[in-house]
Amino acid sequence: VKMLPLKMKLFILFFFIFATIIVVFYGNSYILTAYQHSFFYRNTSLCACDKCLMEYDPWLSELMEASPEPFLSVTNYMSEDIFNWWKRIQRDKRNYTFYNKTVDKIFHIFPPNVGFTRPSPDLCRTCAVVGNSGNLMGSFYGPLIDFHDIVIRMNRGPTKGFERDVGTKTTHHVMYPHSSTNLDNTTYLVLFPFKTYDLEWLIQSFTQRYGGSNIFYVYPTGNKQHLDCHYNPAFMKYVHHVWLKRKGKYPSTGFMTLILSLHMCDEVSVFGFGADRNRNWNHYYEKLKVKRLRTGHHAGNEEYKLIEELYKKEKILFFRGW
Ligand SMILES: *[C@@H]1O[C@H](CO)[C@@H](O)[C@H](O)[C@H]1NC(C)=O
Ligand SMILES: *[C@@H]1O[C@H](CO)[C@@H](O)[C@H](O)[C@H]1NC(C)=O
Ligand SMILES: *[C@@H]1O[C@H](CO)[C@@H](O)[C@H](O)[C@H]1NC(C)=O
Ligand SMILES: *[C@@H]1O[C@H](CO)[C@@H](O)[C@H](O)[C@H]1NC(C)=O
Repeated sequence: VKMLPLKMKLFILFFFIFATIIVVFYGNSYILTAYQHSFFYRNTSLCACDKCLMEYDPWLSELMEASPEPFLSVTNYMSEDIFNWWKRIQRDKRNYTFYNKTVDKIFHIFPPNVGFTRPSPDLCRTCAVVGNSGNLMGSFYGPLIDFHDIVIRMNRGPTKGFERDVGTKTTHHVMYPHSSTNLDNTTYLVLFPFKTYDLEWLIQSFTQRYGGSNIFYVYPTGNKQHLDCHYNPAFMKYVHHVWLKRKGKYPSTGFMTLILSLHMCDEVSVFGFGADRNRNWNHYYEKLKVKRLRTGHHAGNEEYKLIEELYKKEKILFFRGW
């Protein structure tokens, strides 16, 4: 080998020292960040199940870290920015001041109480999120669904007459006014407000039977302290922007409920989502009227893909019914 000139040798030497410093410095800070992340996550979400949903995973952790508190509370008001996004969903004509006043009234009537337990190292919160897909028909999932600590149903989601396939237990019922049903006194109502009127509706239905129909609320322990979870509209925006990358007009109730369950549970089993085996999108409690019913203004395919991704990454269990 020919001798290299001294200058060249020095250059190579410095190059290696410099490269080493870079690698050590950045490498370390990278490892440190990853370590802090996992440390943070382990601490805040350690649970007593064999496998906890929130164990550190870069993909899920990034999505979850962007999340606001899912429920409104006295200390967690909606900002005007979010209000302006939210009011476009259903062309709310109310202004922010009016919205604020309505929320104040609600907190006055329903003292804020979040109907779920926080994560804890000695709890294993198992959840069944039950959608209304026709793929539940003939599934015999009833007993399996009832086996979970928390059973979340949505919109009409009836159990009477469908016990064999959907079970009997409902600890949380997610709905918005247009899809409300009677709740029994062991079920928490989770209200998805899409406009200020929906909040007014809650106040009305608490104080009177609503519009001659039989919609009204009964409280789980005969005590309004234990009823209500007001879904935070900022959470809706988060699901739309961060999870769905703004696809569709706004997220479906089912998808929002699933993302909400990631906050409430250590283990999530999903039932009754997606099309049935004939690719029809219908409800288990209705005779199929429209073949190949589309998913409306929701990004159904995008939502379904994300659910499959959660399933593939073993974050959730997914029961298709077929
Ligand atoms: C994590 O848990 C350990 C031990 O339980 C505790 O000492 C530490 O302060 C916790 N850290 C955070 C960020 O909560
Ligand atoms: C907001 O709406 C209420 C009633 O709908 C009205 O009385 C009030 O003047 C409005 N406030 C603003 C700031 O526009
Ligand atoms: C709405 O309520 C929040 C919290 O009390 C307050 O900070 C904000 O100024 C209010 N905005 C309006 C327009 O009333
Ligand atoms: C809940 O409803 C059941 C039957 O509908 C009734 O027997 C029970 O007393 C109620 N519990 C409370 C706390 O209201």
